Amino acid sequence: MNRFLCLLAAVLYLSLQCQVNAESHLSRSTIERAVIEAKATVDSAYEYSRRVSVERVRRNAVSPSDILRLLKQPVGQTRNAVRAADYMHNAVNLIQTSLQRRQKRSINATDLISEEDLKLIADLTGCSPRHRPPTCTTIDNLDKFRTASSACNNKKNTRWGSSNTPFTRWLPAEYQDQISLPKGWDSAHNINGHLLPLVREVSNRILQTANSDVESDTIYTHLVTIFGQWTDHDLTFTPHSPVIRSYSNGIDCDKSCDNTEPCFPIEVPQDDPRFVNKTHKCMPFFRSAAACGSGNSGHIFGASTVRQQMNSLTAFLDVGQVYGAEDNKAGFLRDLTSDQGRMRVNKQYTDNSRELLPFSTMVTNMCATRARITDDPYAEEVPCFVAGDERSNEQIGLTALHTLFLREHNRLVYHLAHVNTHWDGERLYQEARKIMGGYSQVLTFRDYLGHIVGPDFIASHLSTYPGYDEDVDPSISNVFATAAYRFAHLMVQPKMFRLNETYEEHPVYPSPLLHKAFFTPWRIVFEGGLDPIIRGLVGHPAKLNTQDHMMSDELRDRLFKFTSELALDLAALNMQRGRDHGLPGYNKWRRLCGLTQPRNLEELAEVLNNTKMAEKLLDLYKTPDNIDVWLGGVAEPFVPGGRVGPLFACLIARQFQQIRQGDRLWWENNGVFTEAQKKSLRETSLARIICDNTGITEVPKNPFLYRPRGYGYTQCEKIPAFDLSPWKEHGPYGPPGPHFTFEQVAFSMRLGNDIPEAGMPLHFSEAIYNGQNSYNPKTGMFTCPHPGVYEFQFHCTIFQKDGSIDLMRNEHLLVHSFTTWQTGYLTASGNTYIKLNKGDYVYLVANHDGNGLNHDCYFSGHFLFSE
Ligand code: HEM
Repeated sequence: MNRFLCLLAAVLYLSLQCQVNAESHLSRSTIERAVIEAKATVDSAYEYSRRVSVERVRRNAVSPSDILRLLKQPVGQTRNAVRAADYMHNAVNLIQTSLQRRQKRSINATDLISEEDLKLIADLTGCSPRHRPPTCTTIDNLDKFRTASSACNNKKNTRWGSSNTPFTRWLPAEYQDQISLPKGWDSAHNINGHLLPLVREVSNRILQTANSDVESDTIYTHLVTIFGQWTDHDLTFTPHSPVIRSYSNGIDCDKSCDNTEPCFPIEVPQDDPRFVNKTHKCMPFFRSAAACGSGNSGHIFGASTVRQQMNSLTAFLDVGQVYGAEDNKAGFLRDLTSDQGRMRVNKQYTDNSRELLPFSTMVTNMCATRARITDDPYAEEVPCFVAGDERSNEQIGLTALHTLFLREHNRLVYHLAHVNTHWDGERLYQEARKIMGGYSQVLTFRDYLGHIVGPDFIASHLSTYPGYDEDVDPSISNVFATAAYRFAHLMVQPKMFRLNETYEEHPVYPSPLLHKAFFTPWRIVFEGGLDPIIRGLVGHPAKLNTQDHMMSDELRDRLFKFTSELALDLAALNMQRGRDHGLPGYNKWRRLCGLTQPRNLEELAEVLNNTKMAEKLLDLYKTPDNIDVWLGGVAEPFVPGGRVGPLFACLIARQFQQIRQGDRLWWENNGVFTEAQKKSLRETSLARIICDNTGITEVPKNPFLYRPRGYGYTQCEKIPAFDLSPWKEHGPYGPPGPHFTFEQVAFSMRLGNDIPEAGMPLHFSEAIYNGQNSYNPKTGMFTCPHPGVYEFQFHCTIFQKDGSIDLMRNEHLLVHSFTTWQTGYLTASGNTYIKLNKGDYVYLVANHDGNGLNHDCYFSGHFLFSE
């Protein structure tokens, strides 16, 4: 077969030589032959790669880099798109090489191949359809439900935010050859006058953190971390090309340290402590697939001529990780055996009668890890689970969230069917899916993002919903997927905790180290199911990213390790990926965000608030301009109240702002949900979703905020259930009681720098939101403008041994804070619903003079309903 291909290539090459006429158009037959040859080369490489992968899995010989590659495999439409791009790239290269030989000089392909010829190549390779806007007129219910791929969300620019489109760029790409080759491809190539350091060397010198050195967050639970990954898997997936060997010289990427497309191996430094015997010179790395018609041929589609990477997911918070991001996948995941709108579940196993994800039917079972991990050759294996996103088995915390939300969908359709007995399966499915989208948007914006970007960025970018804007492109930016939203790799604990009913270490199924929890669905099937893992997420703090202890070695030295095969390093992967995608360096992004751009040691030390870190970085990079943006971002000290520095807070807030404003079907947009439905959604809680879908009976009311058990955990029956009555057709519309004739009152304040006076109301000076000016920062009072029931909340940190906060109404105590002593400080918080009359005033007072009260103290209140 291979000999035949070589012969075919030689014949085609010779005929190309004869027929190319560089001055005018290439003949159609010349182009057709080039495309046939390119297709043969690509198909053979795909076939080879598939065969080798299947063989390795069968022989149980998959290496960590195989796992990563299989994890990033394009499937379905994405695979077609990637294959078309590979055909096009190879066809253009073939013609270019042939033309260059004739001209005896090196020329850019686009200088010699006419635009018309490129268009023909694009048609023949299947690249053109990737750029054609879909027609939206034939799609039913376009204003009611999302399409699986989110095509037509924007009716003017119908591909905006849809799956299998290129990531957008907020800054121009920077490639070594201006078109496609990563910086660092040629190791002797200077960037800003300096060589780039090896990414593994940077990882070793800056990020290394032994498991025993990991510090835990005092405020946020490990659920914050894994929920971050969960939201990411709704938004971004950058596929690799499936090819494992170089097109140009047939070298297998994992057998060589040469840079040859698509191989861009990570070089191991001489003195790497993991490879003292110099067993390995490099770790395999595969470049992300190029989007169709980017790079050499980009200009024919009106795109830039640089290489772009593709996002196979939709840009919207639409729970694609449950439902899939294209029609075929969505259909595959549904249970179409009955007309109940349900998602398919596992037929072989349940978890104490509760549903599990269905199994994959793929021949390659990456999840047959049990025998190796337990050292028991007879251990029963299970296949991987399948879900809307391909990465659901990546570690058991993530698998648990997939299972939880799958169950919630099926719970919703069950209840909706009782509310509307006339709805068919399609309607039930779409309505439940729509509610799930609403949940995800509320939970992400109301409960999660503030903990990451802090209140200032919430105030500036993500405060009150401004309405849909069809001119906002929601597409995910390359820097968000490749750098900023990878911040939470530094919040991952080295263990996946499993706790029993009393939230103590599980006596039968103890917490595995992370590298023993990758691709282990059997731990859910055979080791106690979901509940111990969910308790572990809510009952344990997240890892704290500190400049001394950045990434746990479970991810940095043992990524996807099941055997002694060469494990990967996630920090090195992140930086190499940034270079693969042509991301500009640290300072350019700081400039985009309106932040200072440090030029020397002194300035960098000031930005990082850490001279030692600045020295280490400059020792490696020589100039702050060259610092890989992911590293620069995660090295910055946190913004107040957040878990990222100012650069990533800016990039993350900006992305979510666009995701919200550019989504025609955003839950708050007019006409998407009724007022009554919105009220239900506004009151949704992750705590209740956990209660409804597991055997857990007691959870922290806000499962993102860490509390040791016994302090503020709530019995499930006390957490309000999600109210589905507004979905009843022909039932009452709108909330009970009179319709509101006023804008609903709300405020959210941060204490800021005002020093509290003894016994006096605290003056919260920084407004996150104070739309109706109901809170007066000068007096410290909220004054009730409309009678009704209101909710108030506060959360403060006090740096002293003693102290507490009181919530007062009209000089009477309403709530005394729930105060706990952490190591070195107190937290005081409280929450209440209260009926107020017009003119009533509500405020906070600090006991013990408020000494030690931290400016990160929050007070908020809002109207719930009138009687
Ligand atoms: C347990 C933990 C986790 C593991 C093992 C893990 C592993 C990985 C791996 C192997 C990649 C691909 C690296 C590459 O080759 O470029 C990746 C990408 C990524 N990770 Fe994680 N990750 C974890 C947690 C998280 C969390 C908590 C977040 C965010 C909040 C996150 C956000 C991302 C993002 C945005 C990408 C890029 C995805 C894409 O566009 O393909 N990850 N992660």
